[in-house]
Amino acid sequence: MAHAALTVQDLTKRFGADDASNAVDHVSFDVKGGEFFTMVGASGCGKTTTLRMIAGLEQATSGAIQLDGRDFMRIPPQQRNIGMVFQSYALFPHLTIFENVAYGLRLRSIKQIEIERRVTATLALLQLEPYAQRHPAGLSGGQQQRVSIARALVYEPAMLLLDEPLANLDAKLRVQMREELRALQRRLGITTLYVTHDQEEATAVSDRIAVFNHGRLIQLGAPELIYTQPRTLFVADFIGRANFLPVKLADSAAPAAGVVLANGARLAPQRQVALKDDELGRLQGPGDGIVMIRPEHMALTASQGDLACRVQRIQLLGGLMRYSVATPGFDDAPQTVLVETTRPIPGIAEGSGAWLGIPAADAILYHR
Ligand SMILES: Nc1ncnc2c1ncn2[C@@H]1O[C@H](COP(=O)(O)OP(=O)(O)OP(=O)(O)O)[C@@H](O)[C@H]1O
Ligand SMILES: [Mg+2]
Repeated sequence: MAHAALTVQDLTKRFGADDASNAVDHVSFDVKGGEFFTMVGASGCGKTTTLRMIAGLEQATSGAIQLDGRDFMRIPPQQRNIGMVFQSYALFPHLTIFENVAYGLRLRSIKQIEIERRVTATLALLQLEPYAQRHPAGLSGGQQQRVSIARALVYEPAMLLLDEPLANLDAKLRVQMREELRALQRRLGITTLYVTHDQEEATAVSDRIAVFNHGRLIQLGAPELIYTQPRTLFVADFIGRANFLPVKLADSAAPAAGVVLANGARLAPQRQVALKDDELGRLQGPGDGIVMIRPEHMALTASQGDLACRVQRIQLLGGLMRYSVATPGFDDAPQTVLVETTRPIPGIAEGSGAWLGIPAADAILYHR
């Protein structure tokens, strides 16, 4: 199968002339041949609209889309050779699974023998052969979703577009199906553009992810990079879990000189990032910076650390202990901090006084 490469440049969509903002706002990215690329973001951030413009189901207001260097905007949707899978499988209830998968090929008046060859091969690929003669109602949700993927793949498309394909499945099946999908994508090497609002799903399966907010692409990169080096507070908050501590700069002209925490303790975060204008409003009270630290990087002990705190809640979540602690911020404003460990911490119970330790190597300072 082809390893097509997609280029999206300055893609913009405005639905109404009097809309206050663009649904998709000057978005640019490349999807490499054979890549599993995911667009992730909260509801309404423009993921589906971007996907629909690439599929040709929605006309762009401006910008360019190319597949392997060809101008895609001039090619009618049915000739774009793209396989699409949606959240609702929309299988035909009165047709067998075989005929559901064959349907699009019949519309294209492909020869019967070729249809049989392709449908049989595609059903085998998705382990659906035993169900070929059943109707959709006789299949589980996960199996039905596999049929919808088979229906997209049977065209042998140059690229696969998937819009929240697992959203209708229960949590456990969703995890299983995303691994199946990833394995299938690897095996076929098919260029895949995936959409989800589930950040864990995005980071688990993707080669690279693009984080969207309000129609704009905020950060693009490998999951590990986005997790360890979020460019904005929004990305830090959206991908994974984050603690945000208000701080003052020790030297307002030199963020690298370190910061002062609410209790006067000093810290020199290894990484410093200037806040974008639209996030300056998140600075609190007298603070001129925010230190971001992941819960699993925080230390919590009974005896010593950077910040005094009180343990409010301890939860066991699967293999993880999660401690919610309260520590005074500036002007004694209480703030909650999460600490996650793989083992219970000795001497710590709900209601205990304790200490938070912040390793400078894992802390990121976002500053004015
Ligand atoms: N046909 C339309 N007419 C007017 N506005 C639209 C239309 N389709 C989408 N929008 C608006 O464009 C914005 C982006 O919508 P889109 O469906 O792309 O978001 P999404 O990221 O896919 O969200 P979700 O996670 O809820 O599916 C939203 O504000 C939405 O209300
Ligand atoms: Mg959507």
